[in-house]
Amino acid sequence: MKKKIIVAIDGPASSGKSTTAKLLAKKLHCIYVDSGAMYRAVALYLLNHNINFDNKENLKKIVHQINIEIKPGHSSDENIIILNGEDVSRQIREPKITKYSSTFATDGIIRKRMVELQRKMAETRSIVMDGRDIGTVVFPDADYKFFLIASLDERAKRRWLEDKARGHERKSFEQIKNELAFRDKTDSTREIAPLRKADDAIEIDTTSLSIQDQVDLIYNIIKK
Ligand code: CDP
Repeated sequence: MKKKIIVAIDGPASSGKSTTAKLLAKKLHCIYVDSGAMYRAVALYLLNHNINFDNKENLKKIVHQINIEIKPGHSSDENIIILNGEDVSRQIREPKITKYSSTFATDGIIRKRMVELQRKMAETRSIVMDGRDIGTVVFPDADYKFFLIASLDERAKRRWLEDKARGHERKSFEQIKNELAFRDKTDSTREIAPLRKADDAIEIDTTSLSIQDQVDLIYNIIKK
C-alpha cells in the first residue's frame, strides 16, 4: 500500500499557494484543502448571523455549530465549500468576506476549531493543504513543507486579475495593494499561529515563475 503523505504549503495572500496546491494535488492523486476557504466560511457565518465577535463565551458555543466540508468540484478544479449543508463557494470570495476573514482568523477559539477540522480531514487520506499555519501548527510533522512568497506588486497584480475574472467590484491597483499589505500585517503579527515559514520548509519565490514552473518545481522535489 502506498504511504499516506501530507504536503503543507504556506505563504501570504496571492503568493500562488492555492493554484499550485490544487494542481499539485491532482498530480499526486490526493485531496486538496484550501484552509483559507474555511476561515472565509467562518467569517460568512459570523456576519450572516450577526455574531458579536467580542463575546468570547458565546463564540465558544457558536464555533461548534459551524460545520465545514470541502468537496472536489464536478465540472472544474475548484473545491466546493459547504457551510452547514449550504454551498457557499462563491459567497466566501466576496471582498467583504476577504477583509473580515483575516480579522476573525486572529481569534484562538476559531483557530482551535479549524485546526481540529483540518486534522480530521487528513486522518485517512493523503492531502495537500495550503494556508498560513499549516507547516507550523496544523501539521508540524508534514512530509513536505513549502513556503511561497512573491513581491507585493506581483501579488497585487495577480489579485487584480483574479477579482476581474470573478466579476467583483473593480478596485484600483493601489487599493488592492494596500489591502494585501494590511492582511499581510494582520496575518504575520497576530499572537496565535502567525504567518511564518516553518524552519524546515522550503521557501520558493514565485515572483517570476509561471504556475506550471511552480508546480513542476515542487513536484520534482517531492518525487526526489
Ligand atoms: O486567497 P487569499 O490568499 O486571499 O486568502 P485565503 O488563503 O483565502 O485566507 C483568507 C484569510 O484567512 C487570510 O488572510 C488569513 O487571515 C486566514 N487564514 C489563516 O489565518 N490561516 C490559514 N491557515 C488560512 C487562512
